Amino acid sequence: MATGASTASLAITLIDASKGLLPQGTRHSLICSLLGIRHIVLAVKKMDLIGFDADRYAAIVDAYTDFAAKLNFADIGAIPLGARMGDNVTSASGSRRRYQGPSMLQHLEEMDMESDGTGQPFRSSVQWVNRPDANCRGYADTVVSGQIKTGQNIRVARSGHKARVQRIITADGDLAEANAGQAVTLALDEKTDIARGDMLVAPDAPPETTDQFAADILWLRADPMLPGRDYLLRTGQDWTQARITSLRHRVDVNSGDHVAARTLQINDLGLCRLATLKPTAFDKYNENRANGAVILVDRFTHETVAAGMIHHALRRASNIHCADFNIDRTARTERNGQHPLLLWFTGLSGSGNSTIADLVEQALFAAGRHCYSLDGDNIRISLCRDLGFTAADHVENIRRAAEVARLMMGAGLIVLASFISPFWADRQMLRELVGAEEFLEIHVDASIETCMQRHPKGLYAKAKAGLIPHFTGLGSPYEAPEHPDNRLKTGECTADQCAEQALHMPRAKGIAC
Ligand code: ADX
Repeated sequence: MATGASTASLAITLIDASKGLLPQGTRHSLICSLLGIRHIVLAVKKMDLIGFDADRYAAIVDAYTDFAAKLNFADIGAIPLGARMGDNVTSASGSRRRYQGPSMLQHLEEMDMESDGTGQPFRSSVQWVNRPDANCRGYADTVVSGQIKTGQNIRVARSGHKARVQRIITADGDLAEANAGQAVTLALDEKTDIARGDMLVAPDAPPETTDQFAADILWLRADPMLPGRDYLLRTGQDWTQARITSLRHRVDVNSGDHVAARTLQINDLGLCRLATLKPTAFDKYNENRANGAVILVDRFTHETVAAGMIHHALRRASNIHCADFNIDRTARTERNGQHPLLLWFTGLSGSGNSTIADLVEQALFAAGRHCYSLDGDNIRISLCRDLGFTAADHVENIRRAAEVARLMMGAGLIVLASFISPFWADRQMLRELVGAEEFLEIHVDASIETCMQRHPKGLYAKAKAGLIPHFTGLGSPYEAPEHPDNRLKTGECTADQCAEQALHMPRAKGIAC
């Protein structure tokens, strides 16, 4: 059990006396240590099953203490428990034999734990803009750390604007000061632009504000973590879109060793680099746990996929600034006499996506349009030659292809991209990246049997013989689009008919072809 963010941190580690110290127990303790938990209560349960054998109990406590020596806990208190008769749970029991210490309840009540939140610089996270009366502009917050008093100055972390606290309002009347953990409304003297999610901070000790940082990520979902995929990231009350850009290493939670890895499985922990869509204010987790902890949430299901602990900002993030050029999109659109467009052909290998894209490009080219074909196989022997066909590699392949397509659209081209692109989330990312107006998702729809019969490059036969693991449609899933902009049934119509059908959409968008 880990306690809340603004109080001290405690974990109760359960060890079954009849089984001794198992890898699961050490694993949890390592995670607790990484989470910055400082106090451990070692609950050695089921003592009744070993007849309250004091020597076995001492051996378990010694083994755990030896293991935990490197984990930087402030203290470890061990208690033998026999829950069946309630031994040492709420009060001392006759069965406790040589154990002379307190019961679990007494121990918890008597623990001397420093509070995490109060000695730290002031941070509060705005939940909503609150107007208790017409003259007052208040911000409902929870004080995340530190303390704030009336008359003190605050700074809005992201914008840098400053203001003075006029009142600290609660339902029970005004306060002179508020401390970590308290929910209050702060009324400020300046009309400052502050929105939900903004962080109000001590002006002389602001947090870092960046859009790229390194963090330990504890992966919580059954599907593996995929670098390159977009999620929602929450810090305090602030939400932004975020991407795990790379995995530096996985932590072996049994030994603490750093292991090279390309992905994280459920309950794996690894050091990752993350990039956010907008700058995020945070403290390093080891300096301020409440303000250095993040969660990652699936953008579509809203399921929590990971918890993270921020290490540090990536300096390069603040050293790169986008350069502006005078020849912009509008100028290119005028010069080219066409609007850029991305026609994204998705379908199984052998579905015919490259064939149809080729025919569509020929028609556009013949009509004088400026266009270019990006093809999965071709990109994979150049830009993406380092990638294979694991789920993580598909995601990265599509991310790179998307960025190339976007650059080409920036140059004013109509881009025809044919990639299997098996995952729905990545195609959704594409739509958002280039904008729904300029994106057409075309499902080149052929059954796997049809694709197999076509035998492109003999790959299905090889995959069936076990020579190509993760072959899309066989060993690896293809998530067919549910509502594509166009669906071409290549098993039922000729390639020319499908190409003609694919041209309807660009025509409907005003592209003469
Ligand atoms: S994508 O899924 O990441 O979009 P992409 O379209 O670039 O894939 O490449 C797919 C091509 O790679 C297929 O047409 C096929 O020729 C080849 N290929 C080789 N191995 C595999 C595999 N395991 N799964 C799918 N395609 C593969």
